[in-house]
Amino acid sequence: MKDQIEAIQAEALARIEAATDTRSLEDARVAVLGKKGTLTEVSAGMRDVPKEEKAAVGALLNTARNAITAALEGKQQGLQDAADKKSLEGIDVTLPSRALHHGSLHPLTILRHQAISILRRMGFALAEGPEIEDEFHCFDALNTPADHPARNEKDTFYFDSGKLLRTHTSSVQVRTMESQVPPVRIIAPGSAYRRDEIDATHLSVFNQLEGLYVDKDVSLGDLKGTLEYFFQEMFGSETEVRFRPHFFPFTEPSFEIDVKLHVKGQDPRWIEVAGCGMVDPAVFEAINASRKNDGAYDPAKVTGFAFGMGLDRLAMIRWGIKDIRLLIENDARFLKQFA
Ligand code: PHE
Repeated sequence: MKDQIEAIQAEALARIEAATDTRSLEDARVAVLGKKGTLTEVSAGMRDVPKEEKAAVGALLNTARNAITAALEGKQQGLQDAADKKSLEGIDVTLPSRALHHGSLHPLTILRHQAISILRRMGFALAEGPEIEDEFHCFDALNTPADHPARNEKDTFYFDSGKLLRTHTSSVQVRTMESQVPPVRIIAPGSAYRRDEIDATHLSVFNQLEGLYVDKDVSLGDLKGTLEYFFQEMFGSETEVRFRPHFFPFTEPSFEIDVKLHVKGQDPRWIEVAGCGMVDPAVFEAINASRKNDGAYDPAKVTGFAFGMGLDRLAMIRWGIKDIRLLIENDARFLKQFA
């Protein structure tokens, strides 16, 4: 039996050595160590080995099994290494890798960051409100009665529940005054929605930035100074800013703001950039009622100004973008100009 074991070992090692791929290596393994393998079968003969030889034969069997297993593993590794080497043939691992593309901020994000940073320097804090609003916060509290055209079904997205997508960020004015007492000085950047036909200057979702300042003795002069400074920081210190009388239900007096743009090769022209005005006392009355008449916004004691601007519009002016749709198309050729 000892001779048999040695013969099996020698034959198995030779076959393993000769294997040229994992397939023939596996065949060699099964032929010796498999259920009906030669070594397995000879091991079964152990029970007929006389007692005094059992230890020696057993040891020999173990040695053979270990040697064969080690040879199998060694060969497997050798085959793998050879395959790895082959797959790298013709590849120059010293070549530099392809350039990585860096992402960049969207122009609207750049502009919003800049607007926020200018206004924060003037003491405005960030505020937020929901985009799905109710009519009270979007309209009623802002002195906008039910028959006002802004509330028209055709202009606003209404839900069956009676809620709506806010048509302006002015709703955040109301929410802020409901939850904070004067002095308040907030800005609220965010999305606003209107049922506009989409074209080069209109989208049904756009970006606004609202501002509100309420305190004792806030004057129209404060409003003018704040916004003049803002637009000169935004568009350059020579920028002329004009306040043109206008109407908004929630401010009195109200203005639209134009800035005079100097574009190379073009006559300077006035462009409308924002709406603003002094908070209408009727808004303070509505807030007072909403605050259970705690008097925090008594129109005899506080005054305030509010403003709202379209960030998409500012971005278009700032970079001479002719079509607002470019801002939402995510075309990398457009976006990478702002990197
Ligand atoms: N909410 C107005 C709009 O969307 C802008 C505005 C805000 C005007 C605040 C006055 C004061 O057109």
